[in-house]
Amino acid sequence: ILLFSLFIIGLIIIWGIYLYQLIGYRLSSITQALIRLSQGDKNIIVPQQAEDEIGELARAFDIFHQNVIKLDYADALLKEKSELLEQTFLAMRDGLAIFDVKQKLVSYNAQFMQLLNLTEKQLLSYTMPQLATFLSNRHASIYGLQIPINLTYLLEMRSEQEPLEIEYNHSIFEWRISMLQDGGLVVFLIDRTQRKKLEIDLAHSQKMRTIGHLTGGIAHDFNNLLAVIIGNLDLIDSASLTEKQAKRIQNALKAAENSATLTQRLLAYARKQPLHPSAFDINQLLCEFTDLIEHTLSPTIKVRLDLAENLPFVYMDRNQLETALVNLLLNAKDALNSEGEIIIRSTQLIVERTYQQEKMIQIEIINNGCGMDQQTQNRIFEPFFTTKKHGKGSGLGLSMVYGFIRQSKGRISVQSSLGKGTTVNLQLPLAQQIQTSMGTNIAQQVSERFLYSILLVEDQHSLREILEEQLQSASYQTISFENAESAIEYLKCGH
Ligand SMILES: Nc1ncnc2c1ncn2[C@@H]1O[C@H](COP(=O)(O)OP(=O)(O)O)[C@@H](O)[C@H]1O
Ligand SMILES: [Mg+2]
Repeated sequence: ILLFSLFIIGLIIIWGIYLYQLIGYRLSSITQALIRLSQGDKNIIVPQQAEDEIGELARAFDIFHQNVIKLDYADALLKEKSELLEQTFLAMRDGLAIFDVKQKLVSYNAQFMQLLNLTEKQLLSYTMPQLATFLSNRHASIYGLQIPINLTYLLEMRSEQEPLEIEYNHSIFEWRISMLQDGGLVVFLIDRTQRKKLEIDLAHSQKMRTIGHLTGGIAHDFNNLLAVIIGNLDLIDSASLTEKQAKRIQNALKAAENSATLTQRLLAYARKQPLHPSAFDINQLLCEFTDLIEHTLSPTIKVRLDLAENLPFVYMDRNQLETALVNLLLNAKDALNSEGEIIIRSTQLIVERTYQQEKMIQIEIINNGCGMDQQTQNRIFEPFFTTKKHGKGSGLGLSMVYGFIRQSKGRISVQSSLGKGTTVNLQLPLAQQIQTSMGTNIAQQVSERFLYSILLVEDQHSLREILEEQLQSASYQTISFENAESAIEYLKCGH
């Protein structure tokens, strides 16, 4: 019995040990997996388990494990997205700030701070209304309207969806506000200074072109009419007139000639005057010209030449350039009031022109006289714009110079500051560059023997008639045509 009992007890112990090892092993494999998971190891495999409580535990662990992996993936994705957003936020060239429903600043980028020229401390202490007050105290204004900035205007735009341009700190910003769903605000601040400048320049050049077009058209027609009037008056035989009549004709002729000078100036502005360009040494012209003009200026005004050596020849109409320089010097003299110095400087420079570099000669006419405000500077090239007293200025000087320089393929600009002085900057084309692009002067090809038989082309009947009569009275033979095609046809026939 004892032996049997011992056998049974031994059997129970062995069975117990076996059971303990089996359950213990399964439980410890789950515990191990949990420990590894808590340490960050995601590659854990728990062996398949039987359909008992421990198996349930293993399967629950498996689901937990899968969820942890999904959560991890979502977490990484979220992190990546928020990093991208943050980088964009920081890399943006525009300023961006977010205000909460109480209009308190929640977030902003460095550009927002820089564009408004605020320190971080200042910005952080402002709510939206305080920021608007701050801008208004610093003379920020709503561009175009020139009214001080205030919150009402800034917020009104939310409904209008229209950006507002504000001028602040010598810059122009586009200010946009978007509403967030919770009532907060997103403010975008975009620097538009450069674009605004381009827009203004473009509008200005379009305006100049339109005025030029209009002026040119009128001046051309007017010139033709004046040519008929002058021609007819010229052809009247004064011997058959009484003294009184001859005097009247003379007066009419003088008035018509004055009008012709005026239209000539308008044609110059409209870049339509006939030019006779040639190659010449600009320094030589400036020396000769200064000698002559100095006597006509006041003795208390000195002209100083500052000329660069060995300049290449320029190519333009020499007489017209002298007229332009006279205009510029008279303006400088008026700006100096009664005494001072005018500097004429010549240099060679390389300029950017339609995406290519070009050598040009630069002439600067510098005076330290009264200068001009920005409003005057914007209009100086307009014909008839003058700030001088009635009878003193015609307002045609700079417009003529402008038209002539542009027609000669040069450039003109003016830098001026009120009370400090003005520099007029002319950039003139070089002879070799223009001549190679234009070929030889056709006028030079006309041979001597044709000079006394004149082929006349004019589409206006009355003008053609009077020109013919004038030429014939000067003993020229004429053959006239209404248009170029018929004249060419005539020449082709061997005449
Ligand atoms: N060198 C200068 N300094 C200051 N103002 C100038 C100068 N040149 C031109 N201006 C301004 O530009 C205006 C137009 O000049 P202009 O076309 O020559 O006409 P005008 O001399 O007949 O007034 C002048 O009335 C003057 O206000
Ligand atoms: Mg003038």
